[in-house]
Amino acid sequence: MWDPTVYRRFGAERSRPFADLLARVGAEKPRAVVDLGCGPGELTATLAQRWPTARVTGLDSSPEMISKAVALGARADFGVVDVRDWQPGPDDDVVISNAVLQWVPGHHDLLRRWIRQLPPGAWLAVQVPGNFDAPSHRALREVARAAPWADQLGDLLRETPVDDAPGYAQVLTDSGATVDAWETTYVHLLPADPATAHPVLRWMEGTALRPVRAALDDGAWQQFGAALGERLAAAYPARNGLVAFPFRRIFVVATTPKESPQ
Ligand SMILES: C[S@@+](CC[C@H](N)C(=O)[O-])C[C@H]1O[C@@H](n2cnc3c(N)ncnc32)[C@H](O)[C@@H]1O
Repeated sequence: MWDPTVYRRFGAERSRPFADLLARVGAEKPRAVVDLGCGPGELTATLAQRWPTARVTGLDSSPEMISKAVALGARADFGVVDVRDWQPGPDDDVVISNAVLQWVPGHHDLLRRWIRQLPPGAWLAVQVPGNFDAPSHRALREVARAAPWADQLGDLLRETPVDDAPGYAQVLTDSGATVDAWETTYVHLLPADPATAHPVLRWMEGTALRPVRAALDDGAWQQFGAALGERLAAAYPARNGLVAFPFRRIFVVATTPKESPQ
């Protein structure tokens, strides 16, 4: 289950890759814009502002996220849909998926299908985190695979659920698209507050730690957080009241071929 309140921590840091992704989408007057895995909807609302004449839709498999998104009252429709079941429509000129496909095993096939089914001249813009080999995620896997949690958590965490930028570029150029692919490492400077848990742990609680939280009872979750927090504090020490948290992200923007003039 996703907790929109916990996910919204560090909202400014989380929204920057969305803005950087959208900056490379050149659509001028799209008929329809779809945000796949829209989360709590604030970023979807910015799509409606950028393209005031477009029909904007945000879809997410989490009912909790969608109920937050609906409550915004933005000029967008929202619905509970699994992206694996979604089919592009003939007017879907812009499709965005920001920080979602790392949760969807086998998503290369989805990208191939979407780019084939989108209308001519459409834009598909995708961003996924590329930090699965970072100290934060290595520490998470190490703690989960050690006693006393290995039996419960050992198989839960995947090593590398995403591709790199050249890999995504190849999948989409093989499917006939024109592609712009890149990666960026942001250095988030997170405030270190001695009264709360380590900020990288608080960040991870909103995303990577969700499957662990779901698998453990309250007591075990507290112990797990303490063990992981110790490792994170060693890997990401505070300096001048701030913790530097480098975070790699992978971007790909693809356009389908335009219809040739008759
Ligand atoms: C890290 S959040 C990103 C939310 C939003 N795109 C943003 O950038 O803030 C990941 C979102 O993907 C959604 N999600 C994960 N798997 C999904 C799936 N198979 N179909 C639809 N949404 C999915 C989750 O419910 C969650 O809201």
